[in-house]
Amino acid sequence: MKTGVCYYPEHWPAERWAQDAAHMKRIGISHVRIGEFAWSRLEANGQYHMQWLTDAIDVLHAHELKVVLGTPTATPPRWMVDKYPDMLALDEQLQVRDFGSRRHYCFSHEGYLEECKRIVTVLAENYGQHPAVVAWQTDNEYGCHSTSISYSSHALDAFRGWCSETYKTIDALNTAWGNVFWSMEYDSFTQIGLPVGTVTESNPSHQLAYWRFSSRQIQQFNKAQVDIIRTHSPGRDVLHNFMGNFVEFDHHLVSRDLDVATWDNYPLGFLTRDSQNESDKARYLRTGHPDGSAFHHDLYRGCCNGRWWVMEQQPGPVNWAPYNPSPLPGMVRLWGWEAFAHGAEVMSYFRWRQAPFAQEQTHTGLLLSNGEEDVAAGEVAQLNRELEQLAIDGPPIVSSDVAIVFSYSGIAIQDIQSPGGAAFSALTFCQTLHSACRQLGLNVDIVAPDAALDQYRLILVCNHTEDDEQFTQKLLRCQEQTLKPVIALFPGSGSRSHDYAIPAALPPGTLQSLIDVKVVRSESLPPEHLLVAKASDGSVCQCKHWREQITSTLTPHKHFADGWGFHYTYNAVHYINALPERADLIDLLGQLATDAQLTIFNLGPDVRIQQMGNYRVVFNYGSESVSLDKHLGDAFGFSPSTHLLVGERTLNTADVAVWVVA
Ligand code: GAL
Repeated sequence: MKTGVCYYPEHWPAERWAQDAAHMKRIGISHVRIGEFAWSRLEANGQYHMQWLTDAIDVLHAHELKVVLGTPTATPPRWMVDKYPDMLALDEQLQVRDFGSRRHYCFSHEGYLEECKRIVTVLAENYGQHPAVVAWQTDNEYGCHSTSISYSSHALDAFRGWCSETYKTIDALNTAWGNVFWSMEYDSFTQIGLPVGTVTESNPSHQLAYWRFSSRQIQQFNKAQVDIIRTHSPGRDVLHNFMGNFVEFDHHLVSRDLDVATWDNYPLGFLTRDSQNESDKARYLRTGHPDGSAFHHDLYRGCCNGRWWVMEQQPGPVNWAPYNPSPLPGMVRLWGWEAFAHGAEVMSYFRWRQAPFAQEQTHTGLLLSNGEEDVAAGEVAQLNRELEQLAIDGPPIVSSDVAIVFSYSGIAIQDIQSPGGAAFSALTFCQTLHSACRQLGLNVDIVAPDAALDQYRLILVCNHTEDDEQFTQKLLRCQEQTLKPVIALFPGSGSRSHDYAIPAALPPGTLQSLIDVKVVRSESLPPEHLLVAKASDGSVCQCKHWREQITSTLTPHKHFADGWGFHYTYNAVHYINALPERADLIDLLGQLATDAQLTIFNLGPDVRIQQMGNYRVVFNYGSESVSLDKHLGDAFGFSPSTHLLVGERTLNTADVAVWVVA
């Protein structure tokens, strides 16, 4: 793994650049991302001003640094908005999202798209063959600040076109969406409106169609840039920086056109802003959740055939969460090791130097705003020295026996009409499932529904809500293997058609060919209302949020007090028709993993291990030191004679240890 930084030469005097480049080199940085917000400096008054960028790239090159060049399309300059006032997106209240920050554009505005193609062409022609340029980043964080979906007139026109392409006739659309309900039928595609501003909720089919359309708009916007870059800059990686805890468009779809999926990792910001779990928020305030980074590393590794980077990594307090704590000393280094262990090719820090002006002046960097080193610079230097000592050759190898099947459209379906009630989040449930596997010491891949599944021993289907015949056929084929995988289907699997209707055969739709279960009722519950399922041997499982009533010829493992069955199994396929609480979920997954002949080891809440090739990397996110000899015994190839390549046998808070197994 190499390390990088996000650098803004346009923020600093040109005389400073060489000093910065030399400093980067000194602490072991190899990659520098530049340019992604620089449009107002690249083009003004109808003229291009590229010399400064050429100079900046040359300075970095002279210091043997590799450049990741960003396209500046996330920040259209003021003159662009004057030229196309209608390029701005409209929010759900149909308010204009105005100039004065960033991402102020609608993906469906054709004039803006043409301008983007033009500036990307100029950049790609100028720098596409520059020896320093090794990769391109398209735009910046599609969807950030709720910008995936726009309700502008351009979006509406494009949506009508998409509907006509997709459904061919208006009758077909009316039928697919069930528009006879409440007399919502249309006579022509030109009558179709936006799924906002209605008196009460709009048709879920309409909402889902608009979500799919919006994902397609982002994919096409991105692909337009990718095609230009590929023409003028052959042999360079094209990538985009996705976000954390973010599912507002189909990332698998957009990733098809990229070489590398990268993501922006702000562990403390994400926990403080997004977690609903107050005790986790307090416990991991300065470390981030032990599985927060890992979840996204595993998710984005599944987007571009295993190739992924961290494009932006938190170096200290950020500026945008409700509270912005300082990480514990050591965490910046630990997060680097976590990325390494999950197979990152590059770990790049946001940002090189704190900006003393504008929106992000309280966001730390590797350097203070006066140019002196901040704490993170020392930790990055240490990480680089340690990585260099390992001297690993070749691409990272992460292999996992467990797959979580992750569907962006499935999450959209569950978010539109939440089957688990107001406090349920489909994304959070998936993260809990992943975290439970990690606590059991398992490596996990998070994969798209169309990914190959035959290499996995345990397949967890947590949010593939769509009734998907091809997916069902693939699982049936997996079952024909000599060594059958264990498959677990969680509530809601196969419960809606592509157009958001209940399948004729009832949920889980075509998955009934794997296991005889039929969902005849689904209930949601307030989060404090726990339901206990009990087996005849007295063992129990506590469930919350969501439960399904099943009819089946199979005998359930447990029963709830009111007689509803819980957990059905047939032929190594499990249908888990309620959401177990974390502790019981860990027990359940432990049983499934054991059935799948996997070795499990409960690491407790704070310690995590990731296996990368022959390397074993252990992390301590807790507040107490841990004796590895006591905690691990002889698990994970650890033993009294194990020689640690990095770290100590007493693993302190915010520290890591690394060893190799034969
Ligand atoms: C990211 C973004 C960066 C910067 C950073 C601050 O979302 O891509 O440009 O704003 O957050 O943490």
